Amino acid sequence: MKKTLQAVISGTGVAVPSEVLDNDFFASYLDTSDEWITARSGIKQRFRASSEESTATLSKLAAEQAMAEAGITAADLDLIIVGTVTPDTSCPSAACWLQAELGADNVPSMDLNAACSGMAYALTQAAIFIGSGLYRNILVIGADCLSKITNYKDRGTCVLFGDAAAAAVLTATDDPSRGLLFHKLGADGKGAGYITVPAGGSRMPASQETVENDLHYVQMRGREVFKFAVSKFDELLECTIRETGIKAEDLALVVPHQSNLRIIRSAQKKLGLPDEKIIVNIDRYGNTSAASVGIALHEARESGRISVGDLVMLVTFGAGLTWAVLLFRM
Ligand code: UT7
Repeated sequence: MKKTLQAVISGTGVAVPSEVLDNDFFASYLDTSDEWITARSGIKQRFRASSEESTATLSKLAAEQAMAEAGITAADLDLIIVGTVTPDTSCPSAACWLQAELGADNVPSMDLNAACSGMAYALTQAAIFIGSGLYRNILVIGADCLSKITNYKDRGTCVLFGDAAAAAVLTATDDPSRGLLFHKLGADGKGAGYITVPAGGSRMPASQETVENDLHYVQMRGREVFKFAVSKFDELLECTIRETGIKAEDLALVVPHQSNLRIIRSAQKKLGLPDEKIIVNIDRYGNTSAASVGIALHEARESGRISVGDLVMLVTFGAGLTWAVLLFRM
């Protein structure tokens, strides 16, 4: 009989573009200020990809780092999943561009669009593939270059987003105490209009008119998304505690989606967590969409904030609307 395997995170990596935009950059041409951006979002700077950089090029750098740490090469990969809403091309997937860059010949490769929940959705899918006994090593990426679909005249969105890629290698283990112990994914398509890129898909194909009307850029109803996020985080935390029986004090670290410091602080208050048990890096990256929780996870591992045996919770929400909570034993 096939053994049920657990999926452990055996390597992580991060890549960001070299250009850094601080808040004064936006204040130099928009009606905004460092004070407003810092107070309302917690963001101090973010990275922006150049015309040479894309979701796949950043993903490659993050992937190489994660694979080196996991002690594997492209030849050992069984599957590549890229969580993104900004693939290099709408067809083929960013995962296929990445696969070619990595030289991971013939490895099945696909994108997964769950917006800011993309990496959490992809990690879950990868863990289930590994649990089935089908695959041993899966490369999971959360990566977005939101700058490529951002309207730099819209102060309600452009100050928030940053570009980055995060990678994690999931590897099979037969230690039942480790790996993905609990997950809950969800979506509510009735909220599709809250965060959307109206044009460029089959609903509204790109045309000169859509470009002239800025419909190829991301649009967001910030206040509504904010309210949704705060209540969804509360609900996810409550549900995890109820369904798993864990207590907040059992958690070594909570890794929340980094979209707004006020949303993160609200979740922290709900759980009664001290600062050392929740990771915050939004000040340095902005909202990096699918990369967000992957970057925070990587930084937490690198800095020694989490290590083998620790219980870690990832919690995300994003366009869709989508959401996810994952509980990992590292
Ligand atoms: O990962 C994807 C998920 N997205 C999110 O999590 C975003 C969630 N939403 C938010 O983070 C917040 O709603 C924002 C940071 C986007 C906005 O903060 P807010 O406190 O909710 O502001 P608001 O939308 O209620 O707007 C308050 C005022 C408005 O002016 P009026 O109508 O009161 O005159 C906005 O036009 O702030 C104005 N405003 C700005 N002012 C200066 C909006 N953006 C800016 C800006 N600089 N960049």
